[in-house]
Amino acid sequence: MARYPESRSALLPLLHLVQAEDGYLTPAGISFCAGQLSLSPAEVTAVATFYSMYRRTPTGEYLVGVCTNTLCAVMGGDAILEVLGEHLDLHAGQTTADGKVTLEHLECNAACDYAPVIMVNWEFFDNQTPASARNLVDDLRSGAPVAATRGGSPCSFRDTSRILAGFVDQRPGANDGPTAGDATLAGLRVANELGMTAPDPDESHSTAAGPDDEKMTEQAVRDQPAPGPQADLPPTNGAHS
Ligand code: FES
Repeated sequence: MARYPESRSALLPLLHLVQAEDGYLTPAGISFCAGQLSLSPAEVTAVATFYSMYRRTPTGEYLVGVCTNTLCAVMGGDAILEVLGEHLDLHAGQTTADGKVTLEHLECNAACDYAPVIMVNWEFFDNQTPASARNLVDDLRSGAPVAATRGGSPCSFRDTSRILAGFVDQRPGANDGPTAGDATLAGLRVANELGMTAPDPDESHSTAAGPDDEKMTEQAVRDQPAPGPQADLPPTNGAHS
């Protein structure tokens, strides 16, 4: 709490710390945060319910999150979630009877270039398939070693929450992940091949139009008719020439 000019700013890491101790945000944990930060339990709850990383039900040792946002969904995320639900005999949000795996669906994890992705306690497992996802949860439940795609292996949900609360991850090599991978850099590579560069920010400032000019340009663009199809567009099926 002393790290922040306003102690209430420590609420987010404190909530992670509650998850590290209790496995989820218990009423006792919410009261604890409120007492420490001179907030009301309602204020703490309002924050806790806004962010999806905070869990309000007991969580297994491994939180297995399947991204079902647009790109992952079309690349197989929906199928993976369905297969895992059947394989584990539960629905998203539930935990296996052995307490090992909680299945959850996630919104976009900014890893669309490796879709479909699964996160195990927030470690990435890229380019998954229903078969690899099944193997992954089986290994997690049996205690077989599991390696995240970008290095390291997931620690327990409680240990992960402790790291998110601001404690240093002391596992050897835990912070030595690879730099951006091939798929992430694909756009940059194409831009380089085509000789594309970003405009010089200083130059655009010095030649920037004033607010009135900008408004007029915007208006002029809006008044343009929508561009017609390109001349080399192939005819649609059944179209007559
Ligand atoms: S849609 Fe899944 S990571 Fe973006």
